[in-house]
Amino acid sequence: MKIIPGPASKQLGQNLAEYLNTKPTSVFLKPFPDGETYIRFEATTFKDEEVVIVQTTSPPQDQKLIQLMLMADNAKDMEAYKITAVIPYLAYGRQDKRFLPGEAFSLKTVVKILQTCGVDKIITINAHSPTVLKNFSIPIIDLSAIPLLAEYFKIHKLTVNPLSLSMGKKAIPVAQEADNILHGGYDYVESKRDVKTGNVTLEDKPLQVKNRDVIIFDDIISSGGTMAKAVKMVKEKGANKVYSACVHPLLIGDSIIRIIENGAEEIIGTDAVESQVSKVSIAPLIGKTLTQRDA
Ligand code: R5P
Repeated sequence: MKIIPGPASKQLGQNLAEYLNTKPTSVFLKPFPDGETYIRFEATTFKDEEVVIVQTTSPPQDQKLIQLMLMADNAKDMEAYKITAVIPYLAYGRQDKRFLPGEAFSLKTVVKILQTCGVDKIITINAHSPTVLKNFSIPIIDLSAIPLLAEYFKIHKLTVNPLSLSMGKKAIPVAQEADNILHGGYDYVESKRDVKTGNVTLEDKPLQVKNRDVIIFDDIISSGGTMAKAVKMVKEKGANKVYSACVHPLLIGDSIIRIIENGAEEIIGTDAVESQVSKVSIAPLIGKTLTQRDA
């Protein structure tokens, strides 16, 4: 198995290769003066090899997707017999259906292009709507990094008997997953997403947080607006220490400041998107999946 750490997931790809006890295949990449991307592998053939390309597609999504397409198609030309794309943050995952007439079903288009470039299988982490992923023509395996995040809190003893909260009722399985490890109980913050603007608003609901440590779990922190509002609400209800935990720390603009200024102790994220809050590595989770016989 050849592991290729793509330019967007260099460290994660290295960690994965290390976990699998194999030497990663380097990618040489440079931008042309006009902005196009040049890519070359430090290999001349992948004949009869299974190739695993690790490339998250967080912002700038389109650029990272093009890099992934170039890598996959190149690996196919170099005779790889199977190509697995590990895409921890799957770009366009939130546009996973036509919410309004006339809209693009963007995720479908992305998967279709990747398949055309030779990708046989995708492994992703905490996809926005896991059930939708079953309807594609190539397998998309969705793994959850929530147990790893919860373990982090346990190992580092950051909280005492914490209440695990998910963002929205639909995401309650996320809070349950965390509570299986933390055992402090679980609940959810009432949130609603406007299909036209994409904005998330929070609604007031009783939460038993008074004098308790609380961890708010979300799949994505993008602008930080949703998380900042949730932290504020929980603090106003009398919570003790409040932590933000997320799988995909996109952290656009001043999101970190917004969340901390609203009362969070710390933001804990994973390296699904490499960032300054990526304290939890998903490499073992991906490594275990890749070594399962029929994965
Ligand atoms: C919503 O559907 C997601 O789970 C996140 O809550 C959302 O993407 C966060 O966005 P932002 O950080 O921009 O509020």
